[in-house]
Amino acid sequence: MAYAPIVLRDPGRFKDPANLTWERYIALQTRERERYLAERATIPQGALDFTTVNPRYLERAIEQFANNYFPEQSATRYIATAAANAPFEELKTCCLFQLADEQRHLEMDREVFEHAGIPERDWLPAWESPGTTCRFFRHLLELEDTIEILVKGNFVAEGAAGPATFAVLADGAEARGDVFSAVNHRARVRDETRHISFARVLVRALIDDDASNLDVIQRWQDESLQLFVEVARGGERRAWWEGFLASYYKIALPLGLRPSSLPV
Ligand SMILES: [Fe+2]
Ligand SMILES: [Fe+2]
Repeated sequence: MAYAPIVLRDPGRFKDPANLTWERYIALQTRERERYLAERATIPQGALDFTTVNPRYLERAIEQFANNYFPEQSATRYIATAAANAPFEELKTCCLFQLADEQRHLEMDREVFEHAGIPERDWLPAWESPGTTCRFFRHLLELEDTIEILVKGNFVAEGAAGPATFAVLADGAEARGDVFSAVNHRARVRDETRHISFARVLVRALIDDDASNLDVIQRWQDESLQLFVEVARGGERRAWWEGFLASYYKIALPLGLRPSSLPV
């Protein structure tokens, strides 16, 4: 059910809002890594090896760890595909910068699993169990079109799981003694904000370029939210889902997208 890919006829409409060059990006990556390592160095040993973390939290945390780790692993892969197939240079460099970001997030989340002493054979089953965002990310991994990947992955998914969601996750982990996860969430959010920003500029450029692109983007939005909605089923994650939609619509509605009517 692939739709005809949409194209930005005038690539000049897209400009990286962070105005990064390779030189600036590498300096930024280095600064971020140093800042992260400095914050990580302040984490008490008991939190770092999960001995002072609430044991009931830890029992249930495997699902959350999987929901952190595998989306980052998926992002590293789908953004590599997006970079490889990028229709023009400015977009390709944004994807390549993001690839380096996602790879760093993946490393951080791998360390959490390891420090928590969760055997690697248990990671994938936790990710494949009901109630995770697995279905959405598996769908993204099947895509090849750069614009579709960026609309679904960056604009919809990252736009929805935006800064507010990560702040909630960070505060929740910290309250239960899991300072390590909290530091990771606060580090990743600085990059995710940049990923959302360039996707917004891309969506705006596509709509300005050809108003009929809005219909395709609307369909991609609805498809993506449909794949996410199962996470909210069962009521337990209802509050998460409400926040998720609220963050997304805050960026999507001003661009002319309509809320999708999803049965939850
Ligand atoms: Fe990430
Ligand atoms: Fe990202």
